[in-house]
Amino acid sequence: MAFQRKHSESMVPAAGPRLPIADIRRQVVGLRCRVPVLSGALRRYVFLDNAASTPTLKPVLEQVDRFMDWYASVHRGAGFKSLLATRVFDETREILLRFLGGDPSLDTVIYCLNTTEAINKLAYRYPMKPGDVVITTQMEHHSNVLPWRAVAHVVPAPVDDRGALQLTEMGRLINHYRGRLRLVAVTGAANVTGYLNPIHHIARLAHEADAEILVDAAQMAPHRSLDMKPHGDPEHLDYVAVSAHKMYAPFGTGALVGHAKLFDQGIPLSVGGGTVSFVTDHSVQWAAPPDKEEAGTPNVVGAVAMAAAIRVLESVGMDEVARHEAHLTRYALERLKKIKEVELYGDIDLETVEQRVGVIAFNVRGMHHALVAAILSVEGGVGVRNGCFCAHPYIKRILRCNDESAARYGRQIADGYRAELPGAVRLSFGIYSNEEDVNRFLTALRMIVRKRWKGEYTIDEGTGEFRCKGFEPSPGEFFSF
Ligand SMILES: Cc1ncc(COP(=O)(O)O)c(C=O)c1O
Repeated sequence: MAFQRKHSESMVPAAGPRLPIADIRRQVVGLRCRVPVLSGALRRYVFLDNAASTPTLKPVLEQVDRFMDWYASVHRGAGFKSLLATRVFDETREILLRFLGGDPSLDTVIYCLNTTEAINKLAYRYPMKPGDVVITTQMEHHSNVLPWRAVAHVVPAPVDDRGALQLTEMGRLINHYRGRLRLVAVTGAANVTGYLNPIHHIARLAHEADAEILVDAAQMAPHRSLDMKPHGDPEHLDYVAVSAHKMYAPFGTGALVGHAKLFDQGIPLSVGGGTVSFVTDHSVQWAAPPDKEEAGTPNVVGAVAMAAAIRVLESVGMDEVARHEAHLTRYALERLKKIKEVELYGDIDLETVEQRVGVIAFNVRGMHHALVAAILSVEGGVGVRNGCFCAHPYIKRILRCNDESAARYGRQIADGYRAELPGAVRLSFGIYSNEEDVNRFLTALRMIVRKRWKGEYTIDEGTGEFRCKGFEPSPGEFFSF
């Protein structure tokens, strides 16, 4: 059944009472976990890798728990629980669509595993002809580049030395490829530098050239309000992809939202049960979207979790989320800028932190990014990420790595040698991160730049990761079956 209902016919009540952001930490699952560090102590874990994935929230767990009493097969069951579960599943689509400002009468919500699968699905179904062009940017995550390379000629719009999109150049490319250009596929927020792109302006440029726009909202949706705007508005966003695990609902769901009509024609990427309305020995009649695109039994629990997480975000208010994360970014940047050994990437202007999400990439001069990340974890109990963040062209650009070195790294990887690969360290905030988290990180970082770490670290040349001699904590003591 297509998800096509007018806003006024909504069956889902609006979000609950306001939840002050100051109270959100009490709602986060796992914040009290203590982890082993080199000194032998257990320390409260500070998680600063929210751009990769977020913890979940108590209201999400509670909602999932409540729903589990009623869990049953959806769509094909005749029993009461199946009817209820089907209705709940449809409600989750409505909650997501409303969160993104989509139009229930024209847009569909197709559940996927994550943003990567959502973009692959769209790329597979997008009606490309040979020679058709997709414009992306140099700052894209691989998930918003590789699916397009498989079906079109991909042209990345350049970024400047600080990693910001060169909008004028993008406009020039859009004009240049007019006629062949089908889609502009752009990230809402960059996962390395946190830059927010002017997605509505880009939508206008794309539409003026008779093309459409996809916004990869994996990094944007958890941190900023997103409004697809009405169909027909030049600034309308045609397609949006999101991952629930970056939105406090890590239960295996993501979604592609956009024009239902695109999916009316053609054959889905995955076919089988649930995608059809009638099958004979030799023919098939496809169901309407979104069912047509969701082969097999869907992840209803994941959808319930995502909807519950959206409810929490709405209760806090996305403006409040943005304000809180901008404050933390400013707080961290202000202090990081004073550490002369630290090289920061992206825009480090404290006046413009509102124009980025809470993601900060840096290196300690003269130190391997993986060593910094290892010491932060082993001696500080602080979890960050390091490497190239699935954005190799972007890292190459902002680290000013030339083609010759890039080719050398490529050969090294092919030979199983990763010890010299360039990269950066990234910290990224969530709705619940606070100054104390940043302070713990900064204390560990200052210890590192003063070369006062205690462990003896060696690199594993095959993985490019550092190990600390004698530090072999046993995860099984903390969780096992
Ligand atoms: C901007 C961006 N796009 C896409 C993805 C892929 O998300 P997922 O791994 O949930 O598919 C990520 C993941 O970090 C991302 O940051």
